[in-house]
Amino acid sequence: MRLLGDIHSDYRRYRATGVASWAGVLICSRGFWATCCYRIARAIVLHVHIPIVRPCLRAGCLLVQLAVEIVTGISLPPECEIGPGLYIGHFGPVILNSGVRLGHNCNLSQGVTVGIAGRGPRRGCPIIGDRVYIGVNAVLIGQIEIGNDAAIGAGAVVTKSVAACAVVAGNPACVISYKGSFDFVRYDNMDFDPARLEALVSSDRLSQDAVAGRRGHNPAIVPERIRALNHL
Ligand SMILES: CC(C)(COP(=O)(O)OP(=O)(O)OC[C@H]1O[C@@H](n2cnc3c(N)ncnc32)[C@H](O)[C@@H]1OP(=O)(O)O)[C@@H](O)C(=O)NCCC(=O)NCCS
Repeated sequence: MRLLGDIHSDYRRYRATGVASWAGVLICSRGFWATCCYRIARAIVLHVHIPIVRPCLRAGCLLVQLAVEIVTGISLPPECEIGPGLYIGHFGPVILNSGVRLGHNCNLSQGVTVGIAGRGPRRGCPIIGDRVYIGVNAVLIGQIEIGNDAAIGAGAVVTKSVAACAVVAGNPACVISYKGSFDFVRYDNMDFDPARLEALVSSDRLSQDAVAGRRGHNPAIVPERIRALNHL
């Protein structure tokens, strides 16, 4: 079942990022609570269409969402689309507009706002790719696209699209490098994820030979120095 699969992927992000035990995730990670509520509400929005049942469940979800917002400060409306493996590291407000689309294995830090902006036909919300890292207090607004593996710096105000693997910072945000989010986003088996490996190659972080080794799924043949690159 997709709902459980997505919740499991979210849970694994906390373990891969350093939470030592399952209790630590379930009891202490408020980002995980908010994400679980989002996943359940999202499943109801998408899959429950029985007349009386749907509005009742939606009303229940709204109340739970309100409670989660009061306790955690995190607002993830069920209308927004969030890929599996969301990691929200610390306590503090995180606000996503209901029109936002966020890829898989993304990191959101405290104080992040991803929202609507613009006038007329340019009005809209960000579409964010996979494995994107968003630092503390970053603001991403308007009809923009954030490429896969991009990193958004602490305090950045992003109003223009960001290329894949770009690192942006400042207000207004400018590109400071193309080192990507590889050093900041951690998840299970990331060293063997073909999409990540391709992005590493395209950003000159990894050689083709090393990728060929990893595609064989044999960690033993990945050279030590390449492995070190991913554990900076
Ligand atoms: C933007 C960021 C991802 C870049 O990391 P990086 O690729 O390792 O880049 P560096 O730290 O080498 O910085 C490169 C340059 O950008 C500047 N810079 C880095 N982050 C910046 C930021 N958020 N705003 C403005 N300038 C920034 C650095 O001062 C440095 O300038 P210099 O070349 O003149 O010395 C990182 O600095 C950042 O902001 N991460 C968010 C961290 C965070 O939110 N932590 C809290 C977690 S709870």
